[in-house]
Amino acid sequence: MNTTSGFRPGLFAGKHVAITGAGRGIGAAIAEYLVRDGATVFAHLGRDGNQSHWHFPAGGDDQKNLTTCCGDLSDEAEAKAMAEKAMDALDHVDILINNAGTMLGRVPASKMTAAHYRQVSDLNAQSVVVVTTGLLPALQKATSQAAIVNVTSISANTGGSPGSSIYSAAKGFVSTYTRSLATELAGDNIRVNAISPGTIDTDFHQRYSTKEKLARTAANTPLGRLGTAEDCVSACLFLAAPEMSGYITGQIIGINGGIAF
Ligand SMILES: NC(=O)c1ccc[n+]([C@@H]2O[C@H](COP(=O)([O-])OP(=O)(O)OC[C@H]3O[C@@H](n4cnc5c(N)ncnc54)[C@H](OP(=O)(O)O)[C@@H]3O)[C@@H](O)[C@H]2O)c1
Repeated sequence: MNTTSGFRPGLFAGKHVAITGAGRGIGAAIAEYLVRDGATVFAHLGRDGNQSHWHFPAGGDDQKNLTTCCGDLSDEAEAKAMAEKAMDALDHVDILINNAGTMLGRVPASKMTAAHYRQVSDLNAQSVVVVTTGLLPALQKATSQAAIVNVTSISANTGGSPGSSIYSAAKGFVSTYTRSLATELAGDNIRVNAISPGTIDTDFHQRYSTKEKLARTAANTPLGRLGTAEDCVSACLFLAAPEMSGYITGQIIGINGGIAF
């Protein structure tokens, strides 16, 4: 089922959007919808863009309202530079989607290192803070109510599966940061919410989960299947649009097929 077909076409036309990790997976699906809908999008694609799944032909009409960049967001300087490039390209920002993140391997508790902790938290937690802080002046200049949508994870609540403790804890940080900023930025007319995917069938799990594990998860999911990137688009866009969620802030929407925790 294509859940984005329920959105009024052009709802995001003219909106200025910055999104991270938009080269593939969930971020690519969100950014592609926004570009097609007429938003002016600054898309950070990933570390180098080599994995980008974008479906637009290079230089095609669809790219007129799209600016892209790449950079390793776990590096504070590169995350700051990304925010500066987005400010230059967009001037004001109506919607910021902090989506970039990943698990960076499964490490059992007995083999944990400070280096792994830093790598995972610099990407999944610190980069969200650095990009958000860098773009705050542009969000404060938004033409109407602005929205930040963070991408956290079901593992922030469940603790995740074995080997993902630091990733899950970093996503717990993102969830709490979301709630905290919602209160702090309400006075600036900026709403802050998050989507919290369960198991979504993207490249993410090709790296970190076996086929058997994914099949077990699908079987244990009340709606009987894994999620898709498309399933995440509609929840993210709902939270991004003041027309639909203008009185909602500090909330986290689970996209997990009904898994209870
Ligand atoms: N898939 C799931 O089941 C699931 C569940 C819960 C939460 N999430 C979260 O949803 C978000 C999107 O995940 P996804 O499933 O779409 O995964 P994905 O297909 O692997 O995409 C992840 C995106 O983040 C970017 N990224 C990763 N490390 C980066 C770094 N060091 N610097 C800059 N960009 C980096 C990737 O760029 P590269 O192409 O350079 O790697 C890519 O664009 C992530 O925050 C993830 O934690 C996913």
